[in-house]
Amino acid sequence: MSLDIGSSLGRLQPLFTIAGLVSVSYVTLKVAFCTLNFVKVFVLSPLLKLHVDVKKLGQWAAVTGCTDGIGKAYAEELASKGLNIVLLSRSQEKLERVAKEIEANYNVQTKIIVVDFAQGPGVYENIEKEMAGLEVGVLVNNVGMASVVEYFAETADLEQYITNIINVNILAATQMTRIVLPAMVEKRKGVIMNISSASGKVPTGLLSVYSATKAYMDFFSRALHTEYESKGITVQSVMPYFVSTNMTRNMRTSITVPNSKQYVKQALATVGVENRTHGYYSHALQGLIFDILPTWLSMKLVFSELKKTRARVLKKKAGGKKTH
Ligand SMILES: NC(=O)c1ccc[n+]([C@@H]2O[C@H](COP(=O)([O-])OP(=O)(O)OC[C@H]3O[C@@H](n4cnc5c(N)ncnc54)[C@H](OP(=O)(O)O)[C@@H]3O)[C@@H](O)[C@H]2O)c1
Repeated sequence: MSLDIGSSLGRLQPLFTIAGLVSVSYVTLKVAFCTLNFVKVFVLSPLLKLHVDVKKLGQWAAVTGCTDGIGKAYAEELASKGLNIVLLSRSQEKLERVAKEIEANYNVQTKIIVVDFAQGPGVYENIEKEMAGLEVGVLVNNVGMASVVEYFAETADLEQYITNIINVNILAATQMTRIVLPAMVEKRKGVIMNISSASGKVPTGLLSVYSATKAYMDFFSRALHTEYESKGITVQSVMPYFVSTNMTRNMRTSITVPNSKQYVKQALATVGVENRTHGYYSHALQGLIFDILPTWLSMKLVFSELKKTRARVLKKKAGGKKTH
């Protein structure tokens, strides 16, 4: 019997060898391709200015969720390139403050639109009216709502949470695109940047809805780019890992955790160079690791990390008492 198994394995040995060679070649080619792409995106592009010149696309850029974090950084960076900025966010007071700062620092015009995207389909008629006549060449669909690290059915106020997160993370970008895209197509130029997330790449247990909304943003962007590339429009899917903002409780910055200014400076230099991007050099390297790992393993690793995070949060909530 053992001889039979031995001789069968012996006969299969050439197959194992071929499978091994194919796997090693696949990983080697993938790493080589990603390394070349990394050099193009994060070294050559900023040096040779291979990216799109956003100033040539129109007079205005519109940014959703722009009073803090990544959105505010996009608004400032685009203003620094000479674009007027339409600022869309929910707090009038913060909008006025950011508008004043941008006008003073960059000598451009701003327009504020107060909107709570969680309110759903009813908010877009007013946005459309307010934006009518503005030549918008750049749209940054940045607004996003995070979620707590929790099992789906145990999420607090689940019914309302589902409505809010879909309205903010999915509906806003899709409706804003509907509003600005036709005029871009007419002029045959424009850029739409959709802020997805690295958690849209790997189905993420304990962040299931957030991760799924970000996968939507990624798929929507890539599909739209396919449709409109030939019409002069670039649609970019931006997939950050951690950036230090209010959403991440202003976590300590490091090589892998940039602040929003550092992140956006690099991300903006990838427009037109990479249509699906992690936007920042160290995030691209993290992305490469997850690209090489099989999806089931990435899912397992991320889920296991998030289980630890959830346990820590519960322990803290319980005032240090042991939780399960
Ligand atoms: N930070 C990260 O590590 C990270 C990683 C991956 C992806 N992202 C994505 O990047 C985007 C920006 O995140 P962030 O970290 O910069 O967030 P943030 O610091 O929390 O800023 C969010 C901005 O959106 C506004 N906003 C929130 N809910 C809104 C609503 N319902 N209607 C209108 N405006 C609203 C906020 O205004 P208020 O001041 O009124 O709240 C604020 O200006 C999100 O789509 C997020 O999912 C972030």
